[in-house]
Amino acid sequence: MQTVLITGAASGIGRDTARLFASAGWQCVLVDRNVQALEQVVQSLPVHGTAAHVPRVIDLTDRQQIEALAQGTPALDAILNNAGMTEPSTLPLIEQTPEQLQRLLALNLAAPAAVVEACAGLLRPGARIVNVSSGAGLAAIPWRGAYSPSKAGLIAQTQALAQARPDLCVTVLAPGFVRTELVENLIATGRLVPEGAVAKIPLGRMAAPMEMAQALFFLASDGAKPFSGQILALNGGSSIYGGSRPFAPTTIDTLPLDLPVKFEVRGDHAEPWRVRVEEPTGPVRYEACLDSSALYAPAGGLLQAVHAAATHFANRHVQQASLTVLLPSRSTVRWQDAGDAAAARMLLSTLACEWGALALRINAIEVPEGLDPQQLHPLLVYVGGSAAQYLTGQTLVCHAPSSVPTP
Ligand code: NAI
Repeated sequence: MQTVLITGAASGIGRDTARLFASAGWQCVLVDRNVQALEQVVQSLPVHGTAAHVPRVIDLTDRQQIEALAQGTPALDAILNNAGMTEPSTLPLIEQTPEQLQRLLALNLAAPAAVVEACAGLLRPGARIVNVSSGAGLAAIPWRGAYSPSKAGLIAQTQALAQARPDLCVTVLAPGFVRTELVENLIATGRLVPEGAVAKIPLGRMAAPMEMAQALFFLASDGAKPFSGQILALNGGSSIYGGSRPFAPTTIDTLPLDLPVKFEVRGDHAEPWRVRVEEPTGPVRYEACLDSSALYAPAGGLLQAVHAAATHFANRHVQQASLTVLLPSRSTVRWQDAGDAAAARMLLSTLACEWGALALRINAIEVPEGLDPQQLHPLLVYVGGSAAQYLTGQTLVCHAPSSVPTP
C-alpha cells in the first residue's frame, strides 16, 4: 500500500484529491487546520486494508507545528503541498504591512519547504513531491496582495528542489480557475467575475476540483519521473492565450474523467510509442491521437509537421478529443532551426485557442534524446486521456530519468 500526505485536505482540491487517492487504495495523511471539516473528510474516505487514514490538525503558518509533523506519520510515497490562501483584502500592495505579506508567504511559500524538510526522513526511495502553485505564479494578478509573488516563488522553489534532489520526482501544478470554496468566495465578494474569467479561457469553462485531483494523482505516480522539475499548467489554455476576443462559455459537458480512451498512434517510427491501454469495449470513449511525425521531421520542418498532424486530426474528430504531438528536445535543435521549433510550439498553442470551443485539445511533449519510449507511456496516457480534459495548448518538457534540466 502506498501512502500520501496531502495538505489543505479539508476542502476544495485537497478534499477531492484525498477521495481519489483513498478510492485507489492509498493510505492518506490529511493535514489541515480546520478540525471539523477534516474529520468529515476522513470519515467519508474508503479504507483499504488495515492502515487507517491519519488526520493531522496543524496550522501550516506555524513552523513549530510543522516541525512536529513527522511524529506519528508513516513512511511516505508522496507529499502534496496543496494548502494555500488568497489575500482577503483588496488593498494595494504598498498599503499592506510586512506582517500582512508575511502571513500569506508563510502558508503559500514557506510551509511547502518546511513540510518537505520535516518529513524528509519519512520519504521512501524515489518519493514524489508535488507543490500546488497557480496560474497566478506565471502571470501577475493584482489586488490580491502577495498571492502571485508567493506562487511564483513556489514554482522556483520546486525547480530548485528537483535539482537538489534528483533521486526524488518533484513537480509543480499550476491550476487555472477551479470551482472550489476559495473561488466561490472570490465570486461572492465580487473580486472575481466568472464571465470575465471564462472569456479568457479557450476551453470556455472553469475546472472541477476532481480535474486537479487527477493531475495530482498522475504527478504522485512513478510515471511522472521524466517530468521532474517541470510545471504542469492546467488551465484550459488561459496561460497561452494572448488575444482580446472573449471566448463564449462552453456548451459541451465535460466527459467522465475515467472514461476509457481509444488511442490512435500515427507518424514515422510509431511502433515504440504505441500506448498500451485497455481497449474500450463500449461505444462511449474518449478519442486520443498521438502523432510522432514531428519528432522525426527533417531539420527545419517542425512547424509544417505539426500543421500536417493537426489537419489530419481535425479532419477526423468533431469535438472532445485530444492530439498529442511529440517534438524533439529543444536542447538538441541547431540554432538555425530554433525559430522553426518555437514557431511549431506557438502554432500548437494557437490551434488550442482555435479549437477550444469544440473541446478539441492539443499538447506537445518534448522528448529527450536516448529516452526509452516506454518511460513516457504513463505521461502520454495522462496527457491524451479523459483525465486531462482541462489541459490544452501546452508543451511539456521531459528529460531522461538520470538528469533533471536546469530551470
Ligand atoms: P480551499 O480554500 O478550498 O482549500 C484550502 C484548504 O487549506 C482549506 O481546507 C483550508 O482549511 C486549508 N488551510 C488554509 N490555511 C491553512 C493553514 N494555515 N494551515 C492548514 N491548513 C490551511 O482552496 P482550493 O481552491 O482547494 O486551493 C488549493 C490550492 O490550489 C491552493 O494552494 C490554491 O492557492 C491553489 N489554487 C487554487 C485555484 C482555484 O481556482 N481554486 C487556482 C489556482 C491555484
